[in-house]
Amino acid sequence: MKLQPALICFAISFCLFAMACQDSSKDTSRKTQSNIVIAKLDDPGDVHSYANPEQVRVRHVDLDLEVLFDRKVLKGTSTLTLDRPPTGNHPLKLDTRDLKINKAESSNDGTNFTPTQFKLGEADKILGAPLVIQLPAQATKVRVEYETSPKASGVQWLEPAQTAGKSHPYVFTQSQAIHARSWIPLQDSPGVRVTYAARIRTPKELRAVMSAEQDPNAPRNGDYRFNMPQPIPPYLIALAAGDIAFKQLGTRAGVYTEPAMLEKAAREFEDTEKMIQATEKLYGPYRWGRYDILVLPPSFPIGGMENPRLTFATPTILAGDKSLVSLIAHELAHSWSGNLVTNATWRDFWLNEGFTTYLERRITEEIYGRPREEMEAVLAKQAVEKELAEFDDRDEILHIDLTGRDPDEGVTQVPYEKGALFLRSLEETFGRERFDQFLKGYFDHFAFQSITTADFVAYLKKNLLDANPQLAARVTVDDWIYKPGLPASAPQPKSDAFAIVEQQATGWLQDKTPATKLQTKNWSTQEWLHFLRFLPEQLSPRQMQELDRAFKLTKTGNAEIAHQWLLIAIRNKYEPAYPRLEEYLTSIGRQKLIKPLYEELVKTPEGRDRALQIYRKARAGYHPIAVTAVDKIVKWEF
Ligand code: BES
Ligand code: ZN
Repeated sequence: MKLQPALICFAISFCLFAMACQDSSKDTSRKTQSNIVIAKLDDPGDVHSYANPEQVRVRHVDLDLEVLFDRKVLKGTSTLTLDRPPTGNHPLKLDTRDLKINKAESSNDGTNFTPTQFKLGEADKILGAPLVIQLPAQATKVRVEYETSPKASGVQWLEPAQTAGKSHPYVFTQSQAIHARSWIPLQDSPGVRVTYAARIRTPKELRAVMSAEQDPNAPRNGDYRFNMPQPIPPYLIALAAGDIAFKQLGTRAGVYTEPAMLEKAAREFEDTEKMIQATEKLYGPYRWGRYDILVLPPSFPIGGMENPRLTFATPTILAGDKSLVSLIAHELAHSWSGNLVTNATWRDFWLNEGFTTYLERRITEEIYGRPREEMEAVLAKQAVEKELAEFDDRDEILHIDLTGRDPDEGVTQVPYEKGALFLRSLEETFGRERFDQFLKGYFDHFAFQSITTADFVAYLKKNLLDANPQLAARVTVDDWIYKPGLPASAPQPKSDAFAIVEQQATGWLQDKTPATKLQTKNWSTQEWLHFLRFLPEQLSPRQMQELDRAFKLTKTGNAEIAHQWLLIAIRNKYEPAYPRLEEYLTSIGRQKLIKPLYEELVKTPEGRDRALQIYRKARAGYHPIAVTAVDKIVKWEF
């Protein structure tokens, strides 16, 4: 965050005033990386963390953990390096969830540690429990000895049967948004950037990987070391261990996955190096060294996670034809929007995802051409419009208020697609060249910082709007950020390819062209998705059968097309697809693909029975966050 001199002046005097008249443990201010305190009258800071970085700030995390598969526990120590003001003797407040804390020690020299008092507070359902550690006056390091719970919200333990190889167990973490605290006691706020190092011990035959520098050729001996020299928000700390092999894709890119999936993944992601180069050309250098991808087992609960240096990805994007790799473009784009410039709180999540979705489209356009970008933009706009039709006003606002809610609830199409449309409208208004320059400057200016929506708006005003007042008059910045819905001037992506798909679909629906005669030969995944979404909700048994016979939809191996088809099958009670539905829901754990199917099922009493019957088998294989979500949908009773 860059500070205006006048603002600093105001800020300092406000702080003095504030300190004089209120309890100093109340956080009405935020501290920047440069240790300057700025007052934010309207900004309560991060409501999803107990931490007190204004008083004591964690700068570095050193992990030493053992991966205990038999107990489903990570056990060891986390040593935190602290930044403390010269005066004031504040305790260190950390976030935890379901952690068992065995000991806390502090050190003045980083070598000699002595026990210090700590207190684990009462657990809140959403935030977990605060861990308050007393600090002797000279202490600069704290070491916490702890272990995780087998039900840690950010860790999934897989039995060998849940992996491709079927012979080794597997474990992985997913820290975003506030799950890092379920496997590391730390200041779990995206405004607190840390460097980290780790030593991880696993059974000898397994390999551990992390979102950090690592040696892909390290001997497989169960003892692995990692280092992340750049400061990152805690939600980007990630670990996985299993029977993981590696293959180089280019000079900077590679893929890690189980041996059975290695070749397929390498083929699917062969354009990765080109994507890195295209993004660098647009937005400046890739600053993280290597960019590798870890393809997880199918229970991975999300599509992709932008863990720095090592994107975690679902195997459901391995379609065999690269048609779903814009997910890689997306996670790669986070290396600029999100990992380099980070949302300071989960209110500002759209700064991460809206920017990344905009960048994702630009990368897709560069590598796969404008028609593909157009198709993806149209599908995405349909998705956000569908949500906007159903949401309460408060959830349609980019600068969303998530107080009292789990930040995972803010993960909707709004921050992604409304955010991306906002940036697209800036591009359309100011022209691509000027807007590209602006974004490049933005990433550079805020590199390795965590910023709020207000910081972005101030930068936008200064560097784009004020320089072009006539064009600026056309942009309704406040409507985009602080009001529900989409402004009337929102961009309207169009796709010629989709117009043809619609003609074909209409011909079939009007009984003019039988399914076998439709011109679908060269359709991409996106065209198939559009075709299926374009169909009316109700189809006759004859129509369902005709489509399935002509296109073998029940059998498709493409997880996105299968998802769309199964939705239609549930709606139309198309029984021949039921075995596939069960197979799909018991083998995939990606929430975006499974939740809508459960939601569709529970709309009818028979459907709910079917949902429960399938869920009984599937539940044990789902990730803890997917279990929480699906429990709610099917009203699971224990
Ligand atoms: N960072 C997100 C995933 C995320 C967000 C996890 C919030 C937990 C909380 C990631 O970059 C993402 O957006 N993944 C998408 C894929 C993308 C192509 C839209 C997903 O997983 O579906
Ligand atoms: Zn994202």
